[in-house]
Amino acid sequence: MSQARKIIIDTDPGQDDAVAILLALASPAEIDVLGITAVAGNVPLALTQKNARIICELAGKRDMPVFAGCDRPMRRKLVTAEHVHGKTGLDGPQMADPTMPLQDQHAVDFIIETLRREAPHSVTLCPLGPLTNIATAFERAPDIVGRVQQIVLMGGAYFEVGNITPAAEFNIYVDPEAAAIVFGSGVPLVVMPLDVTHKALTTRARVEAFRALGNEAGRMVAEWTDFFERFDMQKYGCDGAPLHDPCVIAYLLRPELFTGRHINVEIETQSELTLGMTVADWWGVTKRPANALFVGAVDADGFYALLTERIARL
Ligand code: RIB
Ligand code: CA
Repeated sequence: MSQARKIIIDTDPGQDDAVAILLALASPAEIDVLGITAVAGNVPLALTQKNARIICELAGKRDMPVFAGCDRPMRRKLVTAEHVHGKTGLDGPQMADPTMPLQDQHAVDFIIETLRREAPHSVTLCPLGPLTNIATAFERAPDIVGRVQQIVLMGGAYFEVGNITPAAEFNIYVDPEAAAIVFGSGVPLVVMPLDVTHKALTTRARVEAFRALGNEAGRMVAEWTDFFERFDMQKYGCDGAPLHDPCVIAYLLRPELFTGRHINVEIETQSELTLGMTVADWWGVTKRPANALFVGAVDADGFYALLTERIARL
């Protein structure tokens, strides 16, 4: 049995973040979650750190260390997305407040300390929200950049264009300076943009399969999705919503479900009109060096089969 892959999940829960975290925690043989770091994004930090703990308790992982990180982007005011995720960030089912503790250590210090302690190239970072914590850690401790095994993140868009502005996807838009640091860091990147997440749509059958599992986690995933999908269905007029963040964890478990291209991706940080755009050289029209595997497609049936099978384990 090959050793479980060590990861840190950086997150702004968010219903789709919640499903991603459950998927990781349901897969201990393949994934060793060293810690979960919360960042301001979908909702303010006070809620994302609380939601991360609610999700860990739902998975029966009360001993999972959860850290609070940056409460705003590096250089800008925070933009949140309550219109998508609701006031709590996890609207849908009724949920009790968490009782497991939040770690005292700041998330950025946890990221730095962990990367310095663990063997070089043995830890993968899995950001599911704005990249503020990751970029702040890289700025504060440049020595850790060369020690990161890989960054597998949800963010950006090319053919799908933007979801928070006509040009930009939310995670990148909230903190474009942080994204520019991460995309310019030289760390091997796997990017799950809207181009692929919009092909991983919930459908009634897929949501009912979660509900039919009969366990608490399956019921919560179904009720989160019932709430979360209404916004995208109204906006895009399709019969389901993209489960964005679980694509990151599914890639770690079954990379063969995904296809993409190694290309150059730069981040717009100057123009207010296109701020946060991921300028992806998909057609290779520049000489800019490739810095990311930019994923464009997924076997959606295989993705949902994996999700359902793993959520059933909780
Ligand atoms: O644009 C989608 C991304 O923004 C997802 O990670 C969602 O959770 C929000 O953070
Ligand atoms: Ca997210």
